[in-house]
Amino acid sequence: MQDTRTLSQDLLAWYDRHARVMAWRVSPQDRAAGLRPDPYRVWLSEVMLQQTTVAAVKDYFHRFTARWPTVTALAAAEDAQVMGEWAGLGYYARARNLLKCARAVVTDHGGQFPTDRERLLTLPGIGPYTASAIAAIAFDEPATVVDGNVERVMSRLFLVETPLPAAKPELTALAASLTPSQRPGDYAQAVMDLGATICTPRSPACGLCPWSQACMARAAGVQADLPRKSPKPEKPTRRGTLWLGHRDGAMLLERRPEKGLLGGMLGFPGDGWDGGGGPAPGDGDWRDIGEVRHTFTHFHLILTVRTARIDSPTTRGDWVARAAFRPADLPTVMRKAWDLARAHLD
Ligand code: ADE
Repeated sequence: MQDTRTLSQDLLAWYDRHARVMAWRVSPQDRAAGLRPDPYRVWLSEVMLQQTTVAAVKDYFHRFTARWPTVTALAAAEDAQVMGEWAGLGYYARARNLLKCARAVVTDHGGQFPTDRERLLTLPGIGPYTASAIAAIAFDEPATVVDGNVERVMSRLFLVETPLPAAKPELTALAASLTPSQRPGDYAQAVMDLGATICTPRSPACGLCPWSQACMARAAGVQADLPRKSPKPEKPTRRGTLWLGHRDGAMLLERRPEKGLLGGMLGFPGDGWDGGGGPAPGDGDWRDIGEVRHTFTHFHLILTVRTARIDSPTTRGDWVARAAFRPADLPTVMRKAWDLARAHLD
C-alpha cells in the first residue's frame, strides 16, 4: 500500500480536475485563491443531503437560500413557512431541528456558526457526521467525514470484509488515517465525489480512479461486492385511514403534533396508523376512493382515502379555503392522497 500522504495527494489532484459543481461548494481553484465557503450554506446543504441525493436537494437549496439568505433570516422565519418549504424532502424532524439550530446560532453564538467540531456538536440536529462535514468543509479543520460513499470507498481501498453496520468503527478509523492536515475541506468533498461518481455501488469505474493501483479490493477482484451488508430486518406494513373532508371548496386540514411521525407538518386527519385512532372528523357521506402507499424508514404504510362533504361541526382540524391551500406544503404521503382525491372534489 502506498503511504497515506501519497494517497490523499493523488485524490486531491483528481479533485482539482473533476470536482462536481454544487451551489453550496467553493471550487478547489476558488478555494486556493482564498475564497471561503459560507458556513450557513454548507450547514444547510449537509442537513438537506442526509439520506437524500444531490439531485433531489438542488431545487430545495435554491428556494431556501433565495427566501432566507442568512442564518439570521432563517432564524426569524415562521415555523409553518419553513415546514412548507421542506415538504417533500422527508424526515421532518430534520426541518424542525434546522430551525432550532438556526435560532441557537443566533441567540447563543451571535449569528456565527462555531468553527470547531466539538462546539458544532452541541447544536440541535448536528450529529457527528454533520459536525465533521461543517468543520472540514466550512472551516478547513482536519475532521474526518464519513457518509455512505466514504464507507464504500474505504471498504474497497482497504478490503474490509466485515459487513456493515459492524464495520463502521473500522471504516471510520481507516478514513481518519487518510485525512490530510492540508486542504481537509477539499479532501472531504473529494472522497464523497469519488464515491458518487467513480467508486459507485454496482459498477465502479476503476479505470478512471486515482486510487485504482492501491485498491486492495480491485487487486482481489471483489470491488463490486463491497461493502458487505448484514441483512436488514423486513419492514412491517401498517394500515390506516385518511379523512379528506371538504365544504364549499375548503379542505379540512390539521397541523400534526410536534413529536412523532411527520411532526409539525400539515396533513389530513387520519387514524389507525400512527398510534391514533377514532372516528371520522365530522358527519358526512364518507366514500372510499382508493389507497395510497408510502414507505417510511421503519415501515410501509397503506392508507385508505375517504372523502365526504362535511356540513356538521367538525371534531378535528381547521377549514382551509381552497385559495389558501397549497398542496406543495404537504408531506409526500399527504400529497399522494390529495392527488388521488382531487378528481373527486373538483
Ligand atoms: N454529499 C453530502 N455532502 C456532500 C458534499 N459536500 N459534497 C458532495 N456530496 C455530498
